[in-house]
Amino acid sequence: MAAEGTLQNFCLRVLSCGDLNSKLAPPRGQAGRPLVDGPHAPVLIDRPARDAALLMTGGAERLPHPRDLVKPAARAECLARFAHHELMAVELFAWALLRWPDAPAGLRRGLLSTLADEQRHCRLYLARLDAHGEAFEGRSHSDYFWRQAPAMAESPAGMGAFLAAMGLTLEQANLDFSLTYRDGFRTAGDERSAQVCQIVHDDEIRHVALAAEWLPRIAPVAPGADALSQTEAYQATVPFPLAANRAKGRRFDIPAREAAGLDRPFIEFVREARSSQQLAGSRRQPK
Ligand SMILES: [Fe+2]
Ligand SMILES: [Fe+2]
Repeated sequence: MAAEGTLQNFCLRVLSCGDLNSKLAPPRGQAGRPLVDGPHAPVLIDRPARDAALLMTGGAERLPHPRDLVKPAARAECLARFAHHELMAVELFAWALLRWPDAPAGLRRGLLSTLADEQRHCRLYLARLDAHGEAFEGRSHSDYFWRQAPAMAESPAGMGAFLAAMGLTLEQANLDFSLTYRDGFRTAGDERSAQVCQIVHDDEIRHVALAAEWLPRIAPVAPGADALSQTEAYQATVPFPLAANRAKGRRFDIPAREAAGLDRPFIEFVREARSSQQLAGSRRQPK
């Protein structure tokens, strides 16, 4: 049993308690003391505990189109979906901290601080959902992020697979989606929700930066070989089926990527990445 006041115990609580309040409790020990991060054996958790009203189902419908956000029901649907993305992020950062306890201390501090941001984002979206008079519990919640966990857990790249999947794919894509939906909420006259999207966007730049800084440092390099570039490190670690074509939205925001420290070749690599369906379609095009 992990000791009270340790990071390990905190992460175990996030994953083994099924209720929202336990998952969103701030990462502090008794009397607000910082958590102690001591050595422990890797802990692999397959799925998080969820109370009945928070159970995850398989896939999800498409998100409402930003132009539909004039309808309160579409706004509520988006806010609930975004809150659940944040909740899955909270759980997956806890999951990664347990799975790879030997990651460098500076990286682990960064991951914990990101986890706390994700808790705050979840609460912000939940407050906006509440302002729409709608409940979070009892909706159908997709398990999309959690479906990536087995490939990350088993990857020989270890923590590198997590940084590539979470930071440089899902969070990088959110640099675009957060702005698209910010503008959608704003156009619909819901400025408070637009502001939440802006907060999430600004924090996401830091989260992507954490992964971009650490991935080339921890990705394995052949003896005698040069350090990997961001693009090489990403390609060497990103776990299938995630790939660069999932690291972006339709709107491709270059300034946010530059602010996150992504270098020019990696930004171009992601911008040009196409899905396998797109590639198959282009092969069928007549010359
Ligand atoms: Fe977030
Ligand atoms: Fe994030």
